[in-house]
Order: sequence, then C-alpha cells, then structure tokens
Amino acid sequence: MKKRMIENGTMDCDRRTFLKRSGAVLGLLALAGVPPALAEDAAWTAVGAEADFPEGEPKFLKEHNAFVVKTPDGVRALSARCTHRGCTVEVSGNEFVCPCHRARFSADGAVLKGPARDPLPALPAKIEDGQVWLGSENAG
Ligand code: FES
Repeated sequence: MKKRMIENGTMDCDRRTFLKRSGAVLGLLALAGVPPALAEDAAWTAVGAEADFPEGEPKFLKEHNAFVVKTPDGVRALSARCTHRGCTVEVSGNEFVCPCHRARFSADGAVLKGPARDPLPALPAKIEDGQVWLGSENAG
C-alpha cells in the first residue's frame, strides 16, 4: 500500500512520488526550450541575448531589481536595492547613486559614500549559449 498522508494542510509523499514529480518538472523545462544543463539548476533565469548587453553599460532589470553589466571577462550582476534602507539605486556615470539619501556605490558595488555601510550585493550571472543568465542568490 502506498503511503500518502495529508496533515495540517501539507502532503507528504514517498521517494518514488517525489522523483516522478521532479522528472515531470524537468520535462516541462525541456519542452519550454531551457537548455538541459540549466534545467537541472532551475535557479537560473535567462534575462536576454548577450548582444543586448553592450559592454560596460549597466542594464537595469526591473523584474529582478538588479543591474547586469557585460565586462571583458563575462558578465556581472548587482542587486539594485540600496543596503541603507532599500531604495532602488540609479546609474550616475560610472557609479550607482541612491536617490533617497544619496549614498554612492562604485561600479562593482563598493560603498563610496554613506549613509549605506554595506556594498550592493553581487548576484550570480553568466553568459551561456548566447544568453545572459541571472541566478538566484543560492545558484552555483
Ligand atoms: S536608502 Fe539608500 S541611502 Fe538611504
């Protein structure tokens, strides 16, 4: 008899059921055109063609509240959330400026002027198959 329990509004499933469901999710990702190597790591999101990211020009991705900039070595991403009180920073020349209390950050996110004390968090980013990919903070 298969073990299936519903307690407190959650459903436990055995190992076999979990593997079947996981396989179904990976199959859907494959049908959606996600490259197999990335389908195994669903924490990565394609954010545009590499050609849409001119080198050295930070591009704001509103849905991720992040800036992505192509570099000679690849691509770099920073959270756009100011580490002082959470306003969204803006590009100003080669720096990021917070419109709320005027904190300034360098192009790599380091604090140049307070009141923010901590740098803008770096986010995982990579170029693969002609696409720029942005990872969640726990993507490898
Ligand atoms: S919220 Fe950015 S400097 Fe205060």
